[in-house]
Amino acid sequence: MFKTVLVHQAGGPEVMTLVDQDPGAPGAGQIRLRQTAIGVNFGDIHKRRGSAPPHAMAAIGLPFTPGLEAAGIVEAVGPGVTEFRVGDRVAYAVASMLGGYAAVRLFEARLAHKLPDSVADADAAALLYKGVTVHGMIRSCYRIEPGHVVLLHAAAGGIGTVLTRWAKYLGATIIGTVSRDDKVQRALINGCDHVIVTGREDFAARTLDITDGVGVDVVYDGVGQEVFLKSFDCLRKYGTMVSFGQSSGMVKPFDPVMLQHKGHYLTKFSGSTYNADVSEYQQRLGDVLDAIDQGILPRGTHATYALDDVVAAHRDIEARRTIGSVVLMP
Ligand SMILES: NC(=O)c1ccc[n+]([C@@H]2O[C@H](COP(=O)([O-])OP(=O)(O)OC[C@H]3O[C@@H](n4cnc5c(N)ncnc54)[C@H](OP(=O)(O)O)[C@@H]3O)[C@@H](O)[C@H]2O)c1
Repeated sequence: MFKTVLVHQAGGPEVMTLVDQDPGAPGAGQIRLRQTAIGVNFGDIHKRRGSAPPHAMAAIGLPFTPGLEAAGIVEAVGPGVTEFRVGDRVAYAVASMLGGYAAVRLFEARLAHKLPDSVADADAAALLYKGVTVHGMIRSCYRIEPGHVVLLHAAAGGIGTVLTRWAKYLGATIIGTVSRDDKVQRALINGCDHVIVTGREDFAARTLDITDGVGVDVVYDGVGQEVFLKSFDCLRKYGTMVSFGQSSGMVKPFDPVMLQHKGHYLTKFSGSTYNADVSEYQQRLGDVLDAIDQGILPRGTHATYALDDVVAAHRDIEARRTIGSVVLMP
């Protein structure tokens, strides 16, 4: 039997319990994976709390096992699977499929990706989901070009680390926000050119100060309610707001007339949309693995917890104590 996390009802971290389960043999098109490292994402917390957007909650039954990404070893292949063999190292990062918080699981072979020897399991589990998200945001949703000035909220977090590193590599100037002084160093190491500490500074005033009153080309906002409206004050004329998350709560309804004063653009990024096409998703996974290989994305800088300590991992993320990605080790 193999440890699996179950959520029987929406609530705090303590609603997650560990049970022993055997997922059985893989069906047609499936692989059975012995998972070696499991990525934790803020979306897992939203689903556990019941605070994900209504369309996402509607797709989740109870009980469920959270988790969107992991790395592991193929233990068995189901009928029709030709792309993998027993013993292959693989990983996946899929917004619309849960079930990652488990020592052993079944998974759709078409959504898994072979890991190169050069990428460690923990690095893949820490970076793939955040990587495909950032790839979609900076290459497709709002394409970062050399010279762009970016405002990025939660710059020392999981997505924050990946987005800063990659956008910097592409030639952007990054203004990052963090809530506390102890996160500043990490944001600077990631590549932020300027770091604003929201616990003691007004991020909009500081951003305008840094940009000589012009504002930034793009805001990437994964924090939501606490910063969303004020972030428009940071945008230059014709600047773009990319909303992609709501770690502080859902954005409240607002009047679109506010966009007209400076011709601002607004878009909402979703991995489920940008990675719905399997070949596009597989291409992005390959690009993220290349970025890890090339050192664009950081290896070995993730917080690790035993799978048994999943409750503590969620508590620390919700309390804003974590820096970078969080990985569970089965
Ligand atoms: N749309 C998509 O497809 C997609 C995909 C992946 C992730 N996301 C979203 O991206 C965001 C970041 O995800 P992540 O997994 O990388 O998490 P994370 O950034 O590592 O953690 C969340 C960070 O948000 C900040 N924060 C601000 N207010 C908060 C609050 N009330 N409670 C907790 N944290 C708060 C904290 O940084 P400070 O303390 O420095 O402010 C915290 O470290 C999340 O909103 C997530 O849902 C969206």
